[in-house]
Amino acid sequence: MSSEDLIGLGYVVAAILFILGLKGLGKPRTAVRGNQLGATGMLIAVLVTLADRDIVSFWQLAVGVAIGTGIGVLLALRVEMTSMPQLVALFNGFGGLASVLVGAASFFEAVGRGQDDLQLTVAAALTAFIGAVTFTGSIIAFTKLQESWDGIVVPAAPIVNVALVVVSIVFGALMVSDPDERLWFWLLVATASVLGVTVTSPIGGADMPVVIALLNSLSGLAASAAGFVLDNALLIIAGALVGASGLILTAIMTKAMNRTLVNVLFSEAPTAGDGVDADSVYAGKVTSTSADEVAMLLDTAERVAIVPGYGLAVAQAQHAVRDLTRVLEENGTEVVFGIHPVAGRMPGHMNVLLAEAEIDYGALIEMDVINPTFDQTDVAIVLGANDVVNPVAREAEGPIAGMPILDVDRARVVVVIKRSLSPGFAGIPNPLFAADNAMMLYGDGKAAVVDITKSLAEM
Ligand code: TAP
Repeated sequence: MSSEDLIGLGYVVAAILFILGLKGLGKPRTAVRGNQLGATGMLIAVLVTLADRDIVSFWQLAVGVAIGTGIGVLLALRVEMTSMPQLVALFNGFGGLASVLVGAASFFEAVGRGQDDLQLTVAAALTAFIGAVTFTGSIIAFTKLQESWDGIVVPAAPIVNVALVVVSIVFGALMVSDPDERLWFWLLVATASVLGVTVTSPIGGADMPVVIALLNSLSGLAASAAGFVLDNALLIIAGALVGASGLILTAIMTKAMNRTLVNVLFSEAPTAGDGVDADSVYAGKVTSTSADEVAMLLDTAERVAIVPGYGLAVAQAQHAVRDLTRVLEENGTEVVFGIHPVAGRMPGHMNVLLAEAEIDYGALIEMDVINPTFDQTDVAIVLGANDVVNPVAREAEGPIAGMPILDVDRARVVVVIKRSLSPGFAGIPNPLFAADNAMMLYGDGKAAVVDITKSLAEM
């Protein structure tokens, strides 16, 4: 077998492992194994690529690995767990940028050797377009998740976006007709970079999960297009797998938000808090409670539903919640968890946190399944969740209008644990806090749950 055949075989094995890994990741019970299979596939892919001395010299590789490892170690040590979603957004963006640079280098090299053809030029144009949109779009997603910058104001955004897509197509066509002129490639990159900013900036409030999933998919598609430029089968397959799974995730997120992709990308988003005055929602109507009082409620409850949100991640309250769950179960109380698909700041955020605390996966109930059961629930504990339980979503207009929510307000009593009345990610007041059957337990999520568990154990 020639070394070329061996490299090809290694790539096929790696690709099969990627597919089996993804299949494993589809179910919690097989997820760890799926992760291991995917990682093994990646190790084989790296080793085989290293054996392919034609690509770059070992020296260049060693320098790249050293720089990458240094940055990776620094990030792993410095980045807080709550900043993981931002970090993932940045990684997506760097994936897009890497595809643009790799695509540019190999395209210009092929053009220099006179080896370019229509397929290569189209692949290079797609790499430039998708990679650049992914890069700048992800940077804006990063700043939004970081809550440091909301992007730029784009008047008549849908029209601007369509115009930028048309200009990009024109530069792509100029690349095909005149591949020797490098300017067309860079003008296409510049236009697509602006498009990434103008598409992502106006998307706000609760629609960010859709954008995150879409950018994830685009980073894969950019890599796949770069694979065509490099003529590397493994990059094409791996990129296509990321692209396809990201698209499936995008579909799940748009369904969770009761939106369509076109609607999210091309409609003017209402700004946070449009026409809603927090004082009129809350003034004189909010009841506060104490850990002892909540413990008394829980002591007599037969069924308790815990609804976690982003505040669970901030407070790192998952282990405290597990301890509370054990005490309640020993007391004969049924405890379930209501999981909203966009709770937290990244897909599956709550599942990951609760799994880390070894909370039984069977107790995590999806929104559609748990909603009809809230009217048979004695106490619903809303722990650091806000937008995903905001009844305003049932109204016809507003930043989260139409988004399905967890119907906690239908439980007999609702206890909301958070530090203040401040709004969630969408930036709007939540009338649930002022509902007749709701009580606020102000404080850090972890400390509050520990106090409740202590009071309950002392009863
Ligand atoms: P949010 O609506 O963001 O509300 C989180 C709440 O947690 C805040 O109101 C905050 O109130 C509270 N909190 C913060 N730190 C806390 C602590 N230490 N202890 C107790 N509470 C604390 O969260 P959600 O209900 O999970 O909704 C998620 C939102 O993020 C949705 O709008 C969603 O669209 C958006 N989003 C989701 C994703 C994905 S993929 N899941 C990605 C981007 C955006 P206090 O400050 O008063 O404590």
